[in-house]
Amino acid sequence: MSKKLFIETLGCAMNTRDSEHMIAQLKEREGYDTTTDLKEADLILINTCSVREKPVQKLFSELGAFNKKKKEGAKIGVCGCTASHLGDEIIKRAPYVSFVLGARNVSKISEVLHKDKAVEIDINYDESEFAFDDFRTSPYKAYINISIGCDKKCTFCIVPKTRGEEISIPDELIIQEAQKAVDTGAKEIFLLGQNVNNYGRRFSDSEHEKVNFTKLLRRLSKIEGLERIRFTSPHPFHMDDEFIEEFASNPKICKSMHMPLQSGSTKVLKDMKRGYTKEWFLNRVEKLRKECPDVSISTDIIVAFPGESEEDFEDTLDVMKQVEFDQIFSFKYSARPHTEAEHFTNVVDEEIGSARLSHLQSMQTEIIDKNMQKHLGKTYEVYFEDLNRDNYVSGRTNANLVVKVKGSEELLGKFKNVKITQIGRTICTGEIVE
Ligand code: 5AD
Ligand code: SF4
Repeated sequence: MSKKLFIETLGCAMNTRDSEHMIAQLKEREGYDTTTDLKEADLILINTCSVREKPVQKLFSELGAFNKKKKEGAKIGVCGCTASHLGDEIIKRAPYVSFVLGARNVSKISEVLHKDKAVEIDINYDESEFAFDDFRTSPYKAYINISIGCDKKCTFCIVPKTRGEEISIPDELIIQEAQKAVDTGAKEIFLLGQNVNNYGRRFSDSEHEKVNFTKLLRRLSKIEGLERIRFTSPHPFHMDDEFIEEFASNPKICKSMHMPLQSGSTKVLKDMKRGYTKEWFLNRVEKLRKECPDVSISTDIIVAFPGESEEDFEDTLDVMKQVEFDQIFSFKYSARPHTEAEHFTNVVDEEIGSARLSHLQSMQTEIIDKNMQKHLGKTYEVYFEDLNRDNYVSGRTNANLVVKVKGSEELLGKFKNVKITQIGRTICTGEIVE
């Protein structure tokens, strides 16, 4: 009988892919199969995120709960970004943890499994050319890493300290992986990196051909049978005209762009070291909408960054009003260790931060309620990926709108034209039209 692996994945899509890589290695090399029942697991992994403080605080209570529930002899491993930043402190605080594996050390999963109390968190470790075994959660789409690490110096962000310097994965390996995904049934690929449009700045092999992100997209789109290409996250600073024009004109690239704004105030952006101004951001949105009128745009916003005045916050609201984002992921600033902003003294009062966050979120809800109406009665091509409860199947339109229709698994992995009959805030309902 196979051994059982229970894995919990927190954080971003990069972590989702890291978890897939660990599952692949453990299946192929160690004879594990995944389970959703913690009590039957022989190995419990938590793939952690450290981008904000709360999930880090929760880690230890969760570890305690897992330790109580786990079966006799089961191992617990802590992986991901919090593993990178806390290292052996995790074992000191939770001595029942068997190993700690950092976000940039995923390929060492077999190794740490067989060493008691191993701590592998080297952020200079280079996994950019490591050939992981194959595993993907969805048969219909494939996550593919195009780079590891991050070279930016955003003053709020812990990621460069958990994932190390940015190294691009050679384009020939990415193309090979995409081809393999298509050959095994995926019609969509999702390219992942901290700054995807900074792709090609540095390869492990310094002699490697200088391929930029636009070129990579062009090369990937030649793969026959590949229908959709998505990616996250691009950086507004690197959104040059060439990139936007390729995005707009390449029919395989899905027309949904994530543009992490963080703040609408040029002063705050400077303090965050984001490398662009409010005007640059608005100019890029304008260019994008001009080239690609049907694009949907999502963003990340942080409120109450140290020194953010009422006027700065108004600037953020102003960008929101001008752009009318299709989706916003908004956060209250959380001071993180090993970051520059951790030492900023002009901290914004907690209550003011909470009030700003709820103000921003209710304004966005109004924008969404108004703008979602435009979809009613429209027909879009939907790629079906998920089986839902109550005999519904859901998928996404090219512009990333989630749509569900009545149906069964035979729709999965298929493209269908769907007329939208009901609007929701995050998911619409429709009917298949021939
Ligand atoms: N505090 C709050 N939000 C943060 N993010 C990153 N670091 C912090 C922080 N210290 C947000 C950013 C980023 C998203 C993944 O998380 O908006 O784009
Ligand atoms: Fe992803 Fe950043 Fe969280 Fe690491 S800290 S899991 S890179 S969001």
